Formats: sequence, C-alpha cells, structure tokens
Amino acid sequence: MNNYAQVYAASMRDPEAFWLAAAETVDWIVPPTRALDDSAAPLYRWYPDATANTCWNAVDRHVTAGRGDQLAIIHDSPITGSTQKITYADLLTRVATLAGALRDRGIVKGDRVLIYMPMVPEALVAMLACARLGAIHSVVFGGFAAHELAVRIDDATPKCILTASCGIEPGRVIPYKPLLDGAIAQARHKPEFTVIWQRPQHPAQLTDGQDLDWFGFQAGATPAECVAVAATDPLYILYTSGTTGQPKGVIRPTGGHMVSLLWTMKNIYQAGVGDVFWAASDVGWVVGHSYICYGPLLAGCTTVVFEGKPVGTPDAGAYWRVIQDHKVKALFTAPTALRAIRRVDPTGLEISKYDLSSMDTLYLAGERADPDTIQWAQMQLEKPVIDHWWQTETGYAIAANPLGIESLPVKLGSPTVAMPGYRVEILDEGGHSVGPDTLGAIAIKLPLPPGTLPGLWNADARFQKSYLAHFPGYYETGDAGKIDADGYIYVMSRTDDVINVAGHRLSTGAMEEVLTRHPDVAECAVIGIGDRLKGQCPLGLLCLNFGVTRPEAEIEAECIALVRQEIGPVAAFKHCLVVQRLPKTRSGKVLRATMAAIADGKPWKMPATIDDPAVLDEIGEKIAGRGQPND
Ligand code: COA
Ligand code: AMP
Repeated sequence: MNNYAQVYAASMRDPEAFWLAAAETVDWIVPPTRALDDSAAPLYRWYPDATANTCWNAVDRHVTAGRGDQLAIIHDSPITGSTQKITYADLLTRVATLAGALRDRGIVKGDRVLIYMPMVPEALVAMLACARLGAIHSVVFGGFAAHELAVRIDDATPKCILTASCGIEPGRVIPYKPLLDGAIAQARHKPEFTVIWQRPQHPAQLTDGQDLDWFGFQAGATPAECVAVAATDPLYILYTSGTTGQPKGVIRPTGGHMVSLLWTMKNIYQAGVGDVFWAASDVGWVVGHSYICYGPLLAGCTTVVFEGKPVGTPDAGAYWRVIQDHKVKALFTAPTALRAIRRVDPTGLEISKYDLSSMDTLYLAGERADPDTIQWAQMQLEKPVIDHWWQTETGYAIAANPLGIESLPVKLGSPTVAMPGYRVEILDEGGHSVGPDTLGAIAIKLPLPPGTLPGLWNADARFQKSYLAHFPGYYETGDAGKIDADGYIYVMSRTDDVINVAGHRLSTGAMEEVLTRHPDVAECAVIGIGDRLKGQCPLGLLCLNFGVTRPEAEIEAECIALVRQEIGPVAAFKHCLVVQRLPKTRSGKVLRATMAAIADGKPWKMPATIDDPAVLDEIGEKIAGRGQPND
C-alpha cells in the first residue's frame, strides 16, 4: 500500500489485521495472537495476550543487533555550556545498573516511581530503568511547583522519587530539593526514598534516611534484566490538565504504545535506524515521552536532549546550530518556539549562518499552528513544515501528513488528515455527525487505536465522564473544529476550560482554585486570552470580599505570586484585575468565553441567559482601561 487513502481504509476495514501486522515491528516475549479486546466496551484493550518489555525494544535490541556503538542520546545543553554523547551500549549499562539498584531497594513490576528532572539524559535513563523493571513511571514537569508535585504524589502513590538537585532556566538556578521536600511534606502519601542526581550548579544537601545519591546508591548494584510485562499493563502515567485542579493521570499501555510509536516514526516522521531525531520539548510533556524518549529509541535513532530555549541561549540561532552540529534529520517543536525565534530574527539572519542540509522536515504540534508562522518557517527554511494534532491522551498524532507513506498537499491551518485507526467526526450538540466545513465538537468513534489511553489512573468513573459520556460511542477530544470535503481536519479551539500557553496545556480551573485561597478573594474567573507569542495567556478576574479596602494593585500582585508559588512559573500567570462582579447566566454559570472574546477584541453576542448585562460592560471597560494585557 503506497498511498494514504489505502492505508487508512485498511485500518478502518480490518483493524485486527492492520494492527497485528503493525505489531510485527516489536520484539515481543509472547507475541500477540489477537489485536483488540472489546469484551468490556466502551473500555478497550489492545494485544490482550501478549507480553514484552519496552526497555528491551528501546535499548537492548539495538545493542544485540550490533549497534552498541551508535549514539543513542546527544545531550546539548547551551544553558550549562556542555554536550554529552551516549551510545546505545553505554545507555544499556546506565539503565540496567539503575534498574538493578532500584530492584535492590524493592522496586518491582507495577510499583510507581515519580521522576522530577530537568532536561538531562538521566531523565531518560530513569524512565527506561522503570520500564526495564515493569515499574510505572510518572514524570512531572520541572516547571511545576511543590503543590502540583504533591497532588501527583498523592494520586500515583510512588514508592520512590528520582530527581535532580536543580533545574536551570535562563538567568536562574532552581533548587529542586526545597520543592521536593515541600511536596512530600504536603502530600499524604510518603515515598520510601528519593534518589538525587547532583548537579554542580547547585548540589543538594541530602537528608539522611530519605535521600540517596544517584551514584552512591548504584554502587555495587547488579544490572537488572528486562522483566516481561503484559502489553495491557501501564508503562507510565502522565498527568495532564483537566477542568479542575485535580490533574488527569493518563495511562499509557505498554504494547500499543510501542506499536503505535514505531508506526509513526516510519510513516509520519520517516525516521529509522541511525537518523538523528530532535523533539525540542521537555520530558515532562507527552511530546517528550513519545518523541524525546521512546519513539526515537524504539526506532534506533539518535535522540537529541536539548537543555535550552529557542531564544536567549545564547541567541535565536540555537535551534539551527543544534541541527547543524548534530546533523538533525527531523525537528519537532511547538509553533510558539518559532514565533519566539521570528520575533528576534524576522529576516532569518541566524538561519543563514548554519548548514541545515541534514534536515528534511520541520514538524509542529502542541497548539494551533497559525498560517503566518508556518509560511514564515517554510520561506526561511525552504523545507516542508508539517503541522500535526494530538493530545496527551492519544500519545501520538490523531491527524498528520503521513510523509512516510505519501506527502499530501498542505492546507494552511489544517494538521491534515486522520491517522490510521482514528475515525474522526464533527458532532453537533445532539451528538449527530455534521457535514463538511461545519464547526462542532471533534470526536473519535470508539475504539481508539493502540497506544491511546485505556483509562485514567485511579479514576475509572472520571474517565468515562470526561471522555465517553457526552457522546456515547465516541471519545470526546475536548477540541472544536471542522473537517472539509477532502477530509482535512481543522482544530480551532478547546470546548472546555483548558488553555494552551506556549504549547503547554493548563487548567484555568486549577488557577481559580488557587486564587480563591487568597483571603481577600470572594470569587474569581480565569480566562485564556490571545497572546502574540504564547498563543494564549491566562487573565484572572477577581471579586473581593465586602469591606476589603487594601489597594487593588497589591492584591493583584499577591494573587500573581500565589499562582506562581502553587502551580509554578509554567502557568505564566502574570495578569489579573479586580472587578466588581463576574458576568453570569441566570443559573450562575460564569460567562468565561464571552469575557475572553471581549478581552481579545473579537465579536461577541450578549448571551440571552445573562443575569445582568451591565456587568459585561463594566468588565470591558476595566480591561480597556488597563490596555490589552497581552501587549
Ligand atoms: N523549570 C522551571 N521553570 C520553568 C521550566 C522548568 N522546566 N520551564 C519553564 N519555566 C519557567 C520559565 O523560566 C518562565 O519563568 P518566568 O516567568 O520567571 O520567566 C515560565 O516558566 C514560563 O516559561 P515558558 O513558557 O518557557 O516561557 P518563556 O517566556 O520563558 O519562553 C518560549 C517562551 C516561547 C521561548 C518558550 O515557551 C518555549 O520554548 N516554548 C516551546 C514550548 C514547547 O516546547 N512546548 C512543548 C510542547 S510541543
Ligand atoms: P497536550 O495534551 O498538552 O498535548 O495538549 C493537547 C491539546 O493541544 C489539544 O487537545 C489541542 O487543543 C492542542 N493542540 C495540540 N496540537 C495541536 C495542533 N496541531 N493544532 C491545534 N491544536 C493542537
């Protein structure tokens, strides 16, 4: 099959045959005899009778095949001024030794291990060591503060935490130990021990009886072998923002994950053994899980672990320098990174300084790719720029341009077409499929293909309520958009209270929960408003308790500090305004979408159900009085 339409049709006609054939790319311990188990529909499991080990497939098998000397990881860290290269043989030694030390401390299959690390190779080593033992890792992004870490500790109940002594952001070192200690103190669940990778920029003071040194704890450990894991067992839990402060623990199943990532490496990214693949994201996000760690390593590529920023480390040429230095074939990043580069280097002066001949394609995801940014990148790089759409829940692209099969014409504003196994439909409020070019909720007919979430950790009812209940028989993506007559999907916005800031998915509900803890705040609303660099940024609207006479500016500043302290700097919560009242419907629902439209200067209609229309005018004036917060 050498065209997309045939491949897609085959996945729809006979999913069983399609996904069993795709499964042949994996080294199984017990190979699957069947693909889909639908006996508990609408809950589905893939490869129910198979076992395998993800670490074996990502590391050992390349060494066994004689590729031990090939580079597995290049760590390029402009922020520390260092580069490190790790071969597959070296990676195997590091992973097996760490796994051995963890096993000696009692970590076994099914245990949870929390990983809180910056962009260093040890983060990947930690993930792979867990996979080797069948322990379930949960990586928490370094930009989250102690409270967010504590919430995840309580939900995942890890036996241990693997961490580093610090992260490094431009202009500042972030000691992790106080965040870690703060989180453990807040959490009800107490991990048995923590292991700390000491970085010279800020070594941590270890606490006796709790903290172990990364190397000290591994001394003398016997390397561990790979453990057989059921294909349906979780490889990891990754928390992502929902509409409340309680994040959703997305479960990634072992078998389907390998099958699907290997399919995408070949058919979307055209990357295979020996190719240098670079996802400029962070291991704390799903892009980092799938395409910094597992995807490229499963496929035998060399993966680049980049500890830096698109601009400022040291300049807007950083990405292009990395591509030249390491002969990167495919770069995957978020549109916001390109916007940041373009703002500093609109004419592409930095681009012209580097040899980008190794690079085939630029892939974008994480947020809507605005046509202007795509066109700028196409013109400056003279390479194909491919937008693709996916979510933490799916783990890989729902819609993409499958260059490894066929290069489909690009339509600006569309991440192209549905990938195999995804029957994407646009539904109206009543759950009926609508025709071409009609806006609606984007839903996917069940079952979802292999590798996608089979459920949420510790939250079966929430899984069904959040994703399956609204449109029976479908998975609700939470995105809204349309499909054109050629099957091109357009993802326009979220249908819930999730916002996307610099390619990071954040919950306005979580920020509201923090703001209401301020003693002067009676109620509040957080909305996502347009931001030229980050796509969106949060704006908080605060109603104060009666009798509060302190200066509004003081309270606003405290609220900003509170969100940074509780959720973390990644929330990018920098704007809030005190208002007299919040606009509500007569049933008490806050009109967030209407306020966001007003703040963005977009057309809006007075909702028929509004309680008091004057409130919207008041808010409009207040925002106008402050100037656009996103300037
Ligand atoms: N640890 C601690 N703090 C972190 C952090 C981490 N791992 N990552 C980000 N932060 C902090 C930043 O230092 C910043 O703090 P500040 O408010 O004190 O400046 C804050 O969180 C917001 O960070 P960020 O979203 O990175 O914004 P920025 O203004 O520093 O940089 C961009 C803007 C566009 C350069 C940056 O967002 C970027 O590189 N985006 C690419 C996004 C991406 O790769 N997304 C992955 C999905 S594919
Ligand atoms: P996350 O789970 O953090 O990967 O965020 C997933 C959400 O980001 C999706 O539900 C979309 O809202 C948005 N998103 C990701 N990729 C794209 C894209 N290519 N186009 C539009 N929105 C996207």
